Amino acid sequence: MIETTIARAGQFKGEDVTIKGWLYNKRSSGKINFLIIRDGTGLMQAVMLKQELPEEQFNMFDELTRESSLIVSGSVRKDDRAPGGYELTIKNLEPVQIAEEYPITKKEHGIDFLMGVRHLWLRSQKQFHILKIRNEIIYAIRKFFYERDFILIDTPILTGSIGETASTLFSTDYFDLGKAYLAQTGQLYLEAACMSHRNVFCFGPTFRAEKSKTRRHLTEFWMIEAEMAYCDLACDIELQEDMVVYTVEHCLEKCRAEFEAIERDTAPLEKIKKPFERMLYDEAVSFLQERGSSIKWGDDLGAEDETIISQEFDQPVFVMNYPRGAKAFYMKENPDNPKTVLCSDLLGPEGYGEIIGGSQREDNLEKLLARIREEKLPEEAYEWYLDLRKYGSVPHSGFGLGVERTVAWICGLPHIRETIPFPRTLSRLYP
Ligand code: 4AD
Ligand code: MG
Repeated sequence: MIETTIARAGQFKGEDVTIKGWLYNKRSSGKINFLIIRDGTGLMQAVMLKQELPEEQFNMFDELTRESSLIVSGSVRKDDRAPGGYELTIKNLEPVQIAEEYPITKKEHGIDFLMGVRHLWLRSQKQFHILKIRNEIIYAIRKFFYERDFILIDTPILTGSIGETASTLFSTDYFDLGKAYLAQTGQLYLEAACMSHRNVFCFGPTFRAEKSKTRRHLTEFWMIEAEMAYCDLACDIELQEDMVVYTVEHCLEKCRAEFEAIERDTAPLEKIKKPFERMLYDEAVSFLQERGSSIKWGDDLGAEDETIISQEFDQPVFVMNYPRGAKAFYMKENPDNPKTVLCSDLLGPEGYGEIIGGSQREDNLEKLLARIREEKLPEEAYEWYLDLRKYGSVPHSGFGLGVERTVAWICGLPHIRETIPFPRTLSRLYP
């Protein structure tokens, strides 16, 4: 007997195969019983006909509960009405474990309940397909960097220097060395590595003790960051554009079935093309004020502000050169207006808001030190980082893309919580 998967079953039309999976659903028309089986590669309808399988197996139908694990063997038949296009006529059925009453049913469940059973919810079709799209997004970005000769640098999770802001740190006691912080970013370490490898990237979990409950914030999220030596903000922005276009095109090519399964209208994604919109922060402030925002020059854009901008354009929008006070200490002073820094936030379209934060880095030793002091960051912790400005300092830039926000945008999801297998938020540590 050939053992195969549901995805490959079509190759064995007319032959007998074995499939190992779980019972997704079942129904009966009295004489004929139907099992909908999932095996991690797809869904398949399997038919139980009295004359085709041993009587005691046929009679098991009532016992088979949802999510029971089972192994079925039978012949593959083409059937255009069946999901996946093929159907299995069962000749042998072997339960592996009969599942207890499954908590997720056809009725509408509240989000808290579903998040509480996230370990089981992952088996539901929509969740299954979202995580497949996530997989393709991550693959596309890694491939993009590989094709451009970027080197993967794994940056530490336990860190001594604060990467972004002191206000959202998770810390833990670190033996005799005081506090260690969970990484908010790999950037500072990438800055060191790009002086060795020129073009580098990292991909890892990052942590922020965000006390706000929003649809865009997690306390643990995955970030893909790049850092390039001899690269200014314009070169940084161009790379981001290329990467986002590449990723969207990859998903449109590879994830047709998944987009259909989650009912994502792909028309807005088909429009994504270079060049993206560009707007200076100053322009963004007037743009927002004209549309009723209470933003004042100097403020960071609020979530609402980002939504307003990103609803007005079909393309992602780069908002550039924010006021110094609204951004992190490491960003390079804008020589044309020292009250601002050379940076960009990329806002996704369709109201998604910031998905990438990037900047040119301050490469001047005195200016960087002054910013560290101004932000009252502990100078000793940055000695190594300041060294990079003493030994062959060069203009360099980089960015960080939030994986979950990108998945939310590409999948068209209103909330970030379904874009990661086990979301960590202010109110959730289990499962
Ligand atoms: O804008 P951020 O804070 O930038 C950095 O961390 C830089 N060090 C990156 C760099 O230049 N190497 O974060 C980058 C991205 C944001 O644009 C957003 O997509 C995501 O990370 N992000 C979050 N995603 C989910 N939950 C949170 N709490 C997030 N905070 C940031
Ligand atoms: Mg940011």
